[in-house]
Amino acid sequence: MKEDEKKIYLVTGGSRGIGKAICEKLAGEESIVIINYRDNDEMAADTLKRVENHGGHGELFKCDVSDYYAVKNMINEIIKKYKKIDGLVNNAGILLMRYFMFTSKEDWNNVMNTNLNGVFNCVKCVLPEMIRREKGRIINISSVATRKVIEGSVAYTVSKYAINGFTKSLAKEVMKYNITINGISSGFIDTDMIKGCEGYGINTEKKGKAEDIAEWVKFLLSDNCRFISGDIISVDGGSSL
Ligand SMILES: NC(=O)c1ccc[n+]([C@@H]2O[C@H](COP(=O)([O-])OP(=O)(O)OC[C@H]3O[C@@H](n4cnc5c(N)ncnc54)[C@H](OP(=O)(O)O)[C@@H]3O)[C@@H](O)[C@H]2O)c1
Repeated sequence: MKEDEKKIYLVTGGSRGIGKAICEKLAGEESIVIINYRDNDEMAADTLKRVENHGGHGELFKCDVSDYYAVKNMINEIIKKYKKIDGLVNNAGILLMRYFMFTSKEDWNNVMNTNLNGVFNCVKCVLPEMIRREKGRIINISSVATRKVIEGSVAYTVSKYAINGFTKSLAKEVMKYNITINGISSGFIDTDMIKGCEGYGINTEKKGKAEDIAEWVKFLLSDNCRFISGDIISVDGGSSL
């Protein structure tokens, strides 16, 4: 396959957990996967190795998604090199399990800056190029916390509800450009994020695997999935019921 025919995917938070599985799932001869992360060089390098083991091509891009100018630079660099971004997966996120009474203004801002503003920053910078090509796919990783109340997670829950609203609202604006934007409401997945959550009364017994989410991301990014937009799909093994 010629280089310019390959799909270019950008996955935020690709060093660990769900993002790592998404990068692996998207890897192959027909794609180039840009693996974004914030701190963990070793784990990011491991993701890149896994992408290459699948016969794919990948690239690392260390950048804090909450920093608008860093994101702008990352996306400019990708577009300069590859001329396009076919799919953006907004997966980077942080969890804060803290009762509202103990949530400081700083805690609140930290969660919003990564989980919500990170999505704003990436989409804001990617969208002009997608609109120019009249083509693109955006996936936002949301949470079961928007389907069933998880006590002690007000800031996190609000950030994910906001993402759902963002997804629906923007989908309507960009449908005329053949750009789809969807969310995945992920159930509990066995990653670093949920270690230690049991103390908050969360039943994490019904845990899924990161690959369960990655499978859906792959489908939503595919050319076959041109007729779904503005939806938030629950992938949670029924735990929100
Ligand atoms: N696990 C679950 O049960 C669950 C349930 C519902 C929704 N989700 C959502 O799924 C997504 C992934 O969660 P996970 O469980 O895979 O989390 P995780 O294991 O804690 O991994 C988080 C990833 O996000 C990256 N990251 C965090 N802040 C970042 C920032 N500011 N800029 C760039 N990268 C950043 C981390 O990079 P470093 O390695 O460099 O720190 C890491 O790659 C999140 O949006 C989360 O809210 C997870």
